[in-house]
Amino acid sequence: MNLALCTALLLGWAGIAQAQGDVMRGAALAASRSQGLCVLCHALPGQPAALQGTIGPALDGVGARLSPEAMRQRLIEPERFNPETVMPSYSRSDKLQRVAAAQQGRPLLARDQIDDLVAYLVSLK
Ligand code: HEC
Repeated sequence: MNLALCTALLLGWAGIAQAQGDVMRGAALAASRSQGLCVLCHALPGQPAALQGTIGPALDGVGARLSPEAMRQRLIEPERFNPETVMPSYSRSDKLQRVAAAQQGRPLLARDQIDDLVAYLVSLK
């Protein structure tokens, strides 16, 4: 195998590894009541029953129901699936309502945090 091909393959793998995110970080974000906030609206496996949200569907088994790409789209553009949705876009910084002054012009989560959440959701089978 020549060097250029070898390098291209290694870079490709590095890219895939990065895009996969980290399941444990994603789990912590989903359960966090100061950042991810998923648990406010969704039931998450392993969280105390009294603290589970019921506004959205339970996320138990979601990794078997939806593709990783579909779950990423939910986080980025939830209104694509339901124009009236109450689920916020985690990557947009425009067209949001009642944004706190300190949060103006900033997305709720960074791209690598969204990768971590997708990795976590994929693991919920
Ligand atoms: C303010 C409430 C709210 C928050 C916060 C929220 N969601 Fe949602 N989510 C919903 C609702 C409601 C739906 C159902 C579809 C719709 O109406 O948009 C949904 C749908 C989903 C779905 C599709 C589930 C399925 O079985 O079809 C996924 C995946 C999801 N949310 C993940 C998340 C993750 C991960 C977070 C945290 C980063 C999050 N949501 C935060 C309300 C919320």
